[in-house]
Amino acid sequence: MPQYKIALIPGDGIGEEVCVEAVKVLKAVEKKYGHSFELKHGLIGGAAWDVHKSHFPDETKSLCDWSDAVLFGSVGGPVAEQDTEKWINCERESILAIRKYLGLTVNLRPAQVFPELAHLSVLKAEKVPENGLEILMFRELSQGLYFGEHTTYEKDGQKHARDICDYSADTIRFIAEFAFRAAKQSGKKIASVDKANVLDTSRLWREVVDEVAKNYPEVSYEHWLVDNCAQQLVKNPDWFEYILTENLFGDILSDLTSTFPGSLGLLASASFNQEGFGLYEPSGGSAPKRANQNIINPIAQILCVAMMLRHSFGMEDEAIAIEKAVHQTIKDGYRTYDLYRELEGETKVGTDQMGDLIAERV
Ligand code: IPM
Ligand code: MG
Repeated sequence: MPQYKIALIPGDGIGEEVCVEAVKVLKAVEKKYGHSFELKHGLIGGAAWDVHKSHFPDETKSLCDWSDAVLFGSVGGPVAEQDTEKWINCERESILAIRKYLGLTVNLRPAQVFPELAHLSVLKAEKVPENGLEILMFRELSQGLYFGEHTTYEKDGQKHARDICDYSADTIRFIAEFAFRAAKQSGKKIASVDKANVLDTSRLWREVVDEVAKNYPEVSYEHWLVDNCAQQLVKNPDWFEYILTENLFGDILSDLTSTFPGSLGLLASASFNQEGFGLYEPSGGSAPKRANQNIINPIAQILCVAMMLRHSFGMEDEAIAIEKAVHQTIKDGYRTYDLYRELEGETKVGTDQMGDLIAERV
């Protein structure tokens, strides 16, 4: 029986406790389907700083090298402590560093509105179709402004700062192929988002997307300017199925779509390098204020497990079993504090109970 090796890297804040629930669900899958998962624990972010005085220590790098997939929590500390040695540069040196270390270039960010939770969405009720809404973002993660040279310098007696935005055709082609392949399989349409009326990188983006599209005549796609896309996402969210975009636009638009489900606690994400290696992390942050009170919603982390099983281990049935278990738990009225509105049929539960309920349903 193949053994699947998983690097479990919970990070800071709520990371540890939601990962406990994710592991519960993974164990339920293991038992039901007769798989064997080997989990090893690693440190990152402030948690790693406490032990190694590094946000991304060598031990954690080796753990990633050993693993078949990374299940990641979240990183970052309390706002009031941002300037301390422990937290300063924590995000750059942990999450951005691990993305770079693993060469992660495709970031999938689903945002779904469960019909039972449509009342929590920021969207007006009439904007949400009866069977819910599901938008999947394909965000490029390895180039663009994030990874170009960053410089602050003096010129003409004043301070200047410069961030270089660079894209290679190969990188664009890789993520475009990824999205078009998925769209061919699912029949979804693609909105490719750029700022081609201004930026050269965006013109290249368009050119390469058009080239890739030629090999997928059955996939319908359109080019969108990012400003217009942001506007239409709010006005007509049901126009969108797949969104394909570069690093910074994807960062901003995915925060926008993350308001659709009504809670960040419902949103998982997956990132891949060109060899298909995957890292799975919830879209929300480390929420240090809410940590260790048994209130946080573990669903995002649990849905990360589903994405990991599907994309890294090819376990489609197992992934669907988790997604169905999550949906059933919501249908049955169980709500962590972020979802609870004292409505009829709702039962308020803590982090651990939510994990138990989902694991049972698997
Ligand atoms: C995200 C985050 C990161 C990003 C930050 C923490 C660097 O906002 O994953 O969306 O901008 O990529
Ligand atoms: Mg972001």
